[in-house]
Amino acid sequence: MKLMLVGYGNVGKAFRKLLHEKKVKELENVKIAGIVTTRGLMLKDQEEFVPDKKINALEALDEVQPDVVVDMASANYNTGEPSLSLYLSALKRGIHVITTNKAPLALKYKEIINTAISHGSKIFFQATVMSGTPSINLYRILPAMKVRKIRGILNGTTNYILTRMSQGLSFNEALKEAQELGYAERDPTLDINGFDAAGKITILSNVYFSRYISINDVKFEGIGNIEIGDALKRGNKIKLIAYADEKETYVKPMEITKEDFLYNVDGVNNALEIESDIQKITIVGPGAGPLNAAYGAFSDLILLLRGENLPGL
Ligand SMILES: NC(=O)c1ccc[n+]([C@@H]2O[C@H](COP(=O)([O-])OP(=O)(O)OC[C@H]3O[C@@H](n4cnc5c(N)ncnc54)[C@H](OP(=O)(O)O)[C@@H]3O)[C@@H](O)[C@H]2O)c1
Repeated sequence: MKLMLVGYGNVGKAFRKLLHEKKVKELENVKIAGIVTTRGLMLKDQEEFVPDKKINALEALDEVQPDVVVDMASANYNTGEPSLSLYLSALKRGIHVITTNKAPLALKYKEIINTAISHGSKIFFQATVMSGTPSINLYRILPAMKVRKIRGILNGTTNYILTRMSQGLSFNEALKEAQELGYAERDPTLDINGFDAAGKITILSNVYFSRYISINDVKFEGIGNIEIGDALKRGNKIKLIAYADEKETYVKPMEITKEDFLYNVDGVNNALEIESDIQKITIVGPGAGPLNAAYGAFSDLILLLRGENLPGL
């Protein structure tokens, strides 16, 4: 089985390392046949990226003829491109897609899934929400459970800032600290304004409720102008909550009491609570980090090789 990796940054390098270091029976016949970045295509599997050809990922599909494309390239939240066109083209040719890049799925979930279904190909995307913490892949092992609502903390940067603010720091001090520790990007806008969490709850809504919505349908509010003093006086905390049920999906800062499980989910941790007709399940884990995201894609690859798919697909 031939893989083509698209993007060879922090996550791409960690994925390649996992593939070489983890001895898994399913992976015996899997090899990296090409790696594509903005600098071109490398037609071999080596640690140092040295392009053989100056071509893009779409052109590289013809050159490499992979069985699976693993997209670990930067996200474009305006159009999802060039990853979106790459997925559609690959899926139409029966090439499976694994991705850590949430932009195409947050924007065009319906189009991507329908293309996969009508061509008998598969798309796996665990790492797009909570990285290696199985937010999406958990759904694979809850057959026939009627999920009523999901809610969670899906952005580590804002959770870190809110945690530090509850310990006495100002918003600006907490943001600066998060940037120094590498938890926040130099331009943290899409985390702070709730957009990143909105993209993730969009994808989860589509998986858990078959909603087929786009991020453009989701109302979101961030923590840019947040005031947490009154909540703290009441012994509560403010958390940026992402929520979805069969009818609505939103992201907004909310006051959380001590009795709420999410009250103790602090720092860069993420959490997801799934309420169903059978029981409530809560998972907590890291929502970012190159190894975590790479593991999300790596676990997807093994599930794909085991013949799995999401229920309903
Ligand atoms: N890091 C995390 O914790 C994390 C967690 C979950 C999901 N993700 C997602 O995973 C993806 C990769 O993240 P990262 O941290 O590895 O980013 P990164 O270190 O910035 O690497 C991005 C890679 O994408 C390549 N790239 C950009 N545009 C491309 C294009 N049009 N065609 C082919 N390659 C292209 C870059 O090429 P050059 O090398 O030529 O610049 C680079 O190799 C992103 O979508 C991110 O949102 C990351």
